[in-house]
Amino acid sequence: MPVVVEPDTAAAEKLLAALPPGAHCVPTTERLLAWLGSRPEEYVVLVGPSVDLVEAVGLSETLRTARPTVSVVLVRRLVDTEVLGRAMHAGVREVVGADDVAALEAAVGRAYELWTALRGPGGAVHRGRVVTVFSPKGGVGKTTVAVNLALALADRGARKVCLVDLDLAFGDVAITLQLFPSHSIEHAAGAEQSLDVSLLEPLLTRHADGVSVLAAPSLPDALDRISTQLVGAVIDALAAHHDYVVVDTAPAFDEHTLAALDDTDDLVLVATLDVPTLKNVKVATGTLDTLHIAEGRRHLVLNRADDAVGLSADQVQGILGMPVTVRLPSSIEVAAATNAGRPIVLAHPDHPVAAGLQHLVRAIAGEPSAPVGPVGAAGGTRRAEGRRRLFGGRR
Ligand SMILES: Nc1ncnc2c1ncn2[C@@H]1O[C@H](COP(=O)(O)OP(=O)(O)OP(=O)(O)O)[C@@H](O)[C@H]1O
Ligand SMILES: [Mg+2]
Repeated sequence: MPVVVEPDTAAAEKLLAALPPGAHCVPTTERLLAWLGSRPEEYVVLVGPSVDLVEAVGLSETLRTARPTVSVVLVRRLVDTEVLGRAMHAGVREVVGADDVAALEAAVGRAYELWTALRGPGGAVHRGRVVTVFSPKGGVGKTTVAVNLALALADRGARKVCLVDLDLAFGDVAITLQLFPSHSIEHAAGAEQSLDVSLLEPLLTRHADGVSVLAAPSLPDALDRISTQLVGAVIDALAAHHDYVVVDTAPAFDEHTLAALDDTDDLVLVATLDVPTLKNVKVATGTLDTLHIAEGRRHLVLNRADDAVGLSADQVQGILGMPVTVRLPSSIEVAAATNAGRPIVLAHPDHPVAAGLQHLVRAIAGEPSAPVGPVGAAGGTRRAEGRRRLFGGRR
C-alpha cells in the first residue's frame, strides 16, 4: 500500500485522498524507514511537499540502493528545473505537482506496475493481527489499556493500527483521544456481505499519532442495528489493511464481544486485584477455553496492581491458572493524561504504566505471526458453536 511522508496534517490528508484506499501516512523520514523495515511488500513512497528538498533527496538516495523495488515519488508545490535535476540524480522515479491529482494517480499506478514486474505478480498476502482487550468486569481499565496499546503499537506511524470501539452502547475511545468522529461502525450496518476497505476507510477517524479509530455509535440504541456478522466482517476487512486491529470491548460476554473474540489472535485480559473481578475473569477464561479462543496467546494485565488489598500477583496466577504478563500500578497521572486527551504512553513515555504497556507491546509484537489461513472455516464454526452454548442458539 502506498505510504506518504508528510508532517503537515492538512497536506497529508490531501495526498491520502488522492491515493488508493489503505494508503498510510507517517510524519517523518525516520518513521518511514521504520515502516519500510517491516514491509517487504511496499512499492511506493510519496514524499510530501512539506518535506525539505535536501531531506527528500537524501531519502531517495538511501532507498535507491537499500530498496530498489520501492519507487520514490516527489510531490512539490513548485516543480522547476532545479528540483527536477536534483531529483533525477537522487533516483527519484517521478516528480509531481502538489495539486496534480491525475499525475499523482498515474505515478502510483506506474510504481505498482514496476513493482509487479520486478517482484512478480501477487506478492505476499497481508493480514494484520487482531488484539482484543477484554474483561468481564466494568471499570477495570480496558479502554485505558486498549487506547495506550494501540498508540504504543503504532510507534508514531511505523505500524498501521486501527482501534475499534466495540463498546457499542457506551464506547468512550473517541472522547478519550479527544476525537470527534463524523462516522461510526453504525454507518457500515447493512453492508455485511460487501464490506471492503474503500467502504470502511471513510468511517475511520484519524489520530495524529498513527492510529485510526472506528468509533462506537453516538447513541446506545444503535446497538440493535449492528449484527454480529457485521462485527466479524469489519474486523476481517480492517485486518487486511492494518498491521494491528485493537478492539476495545464492553464489560460483558455478549454476542458482539464473542464475534470479535472469534477473530482474535491475541487476547489481553484485564483484571484488578479484587475477588469479584478475579472470580468473573476465572469464569470468563473457562468459557474462552471451551471456545478455544486465543489459546496460547492470552496476556493477563493486572491493572492498579499496587493496591494493598491482600492479594498478590502470585496468588492471582494461582487462581487464574495463567501467568501475569504485566502489572500496571495505580497512578493519578494515568487518569490525568486520559482527561487531558493525551494518553500516558504519549504524555509520559517513561512513566511505569507506559513502560508496562511497552512490555505488553513486546509480548504481542515480538513473537512470530500465526500462519495466515482462511478466516471463514474454523472461525465460523467456532462462532456458531459459541453462540449456541452461550445464547441457546439465538440469531
Ligand atoms: N492504572 C491506572 N491508574 C489510575 N487510574 C486508572 C488506571 N487505569 C485506569 N484508570 C482510570 O480508571 C477509570 C476507568 O478506566 P477505563 O475507562 O479504562 O475502564 P474500562 O474497563 O474501560 O471501563 P468500562 O467497563 O466502563 O468501559 C478511568 O478514569 C481511568 O482513567
Ligand atoms: Mg471502557
